[in-house]
Amino acid sequence: MKPCFTIITLLISVLLANSASAIQPGKTVTWDTPMGKVTFSGKNHFDAGVKCLDCHSKIFKMKKGSTVMKMDDIHAGKFCGTCHNGKKAFASKDNCDICHAKQK
Ligand code: HEC
Ligand code: HEC
Ligand code: HEC
Repeated sequence: MKPCFTIITLLISVLLANSASAIQPGKTVTWDTPMGKVTFSGKNHFDAGVKCLDCHSKIFKMKKGSTVMKMDDIHAGKFCGTCHNGKKAFASKDNCDICHAKQK
């Protein structure tokens, strides 16, 4: 009786964990830069109507820290700059402060 109970409890928690991650609209990712921390909010992008497939995996892999990007790349229209070009979303060039937290 007891081991059976344990298995059922395990199964339930696995199921709950799975359904929780299925509705999670992406993740929060941060980068430390000389200009202060950049925070990418999966939720804010989800709320802005951006789909997982718009970013994964043609622009970003689903793994924190796997992307090596320089600000020049972003300004040139790569990575975040694929959208942050003043057309699909605010331009990277004039809006440093929206992404880079002010230095303390
Ligand atoms: C606007 C672009 C964008 C969208 C839309 C987006 N993501 Fe991401 N996602 C990222 C970036 C950037 C990273 C970090 C990649 C890196 O550090 O190289 C990331 C990382 C991840 C990771 C890995 C997190 C970790 O801890 O390693 C998962 C899982 C993920 N995204 C899932 C999703 C899901 C599910 C959706 C849709 C609900 C989604 N993403 C939508 C940009 C996006
Ligand atoms: C697939 C398109 C796309 C990509 C790629 C993308 N964004 Fe966005 N982002 C948007 C849209 C659309 C909005 C909402 C409209 C706006 O604010 O202009 C937005 C809004 C934001 C905001 C303001 C809302 C908030 O969360 O404070 C920040 C900051 C931001 N993006 C950072 C980033 C960073 C950093 C990256 C790269 C890691 C990135 N974005 C990549 C489309 C994108
Ligand atoms: C759309 C969001 C976004 C905007 C807007 C933005 N940045 Fe960045 N910036 C990033 C991200 C993401 C990184 C990459 C961090 C990493 O990979 O380590 C970065 C990295 C940097 C770095 C360190 C790496 C390098 O290439 O030297 C500097 C400096 C920088 N940004 C300056 C700026 C300045 C100046 C502006 C405004 C003209 C700006 N950024 C606007 C998101 C943004």
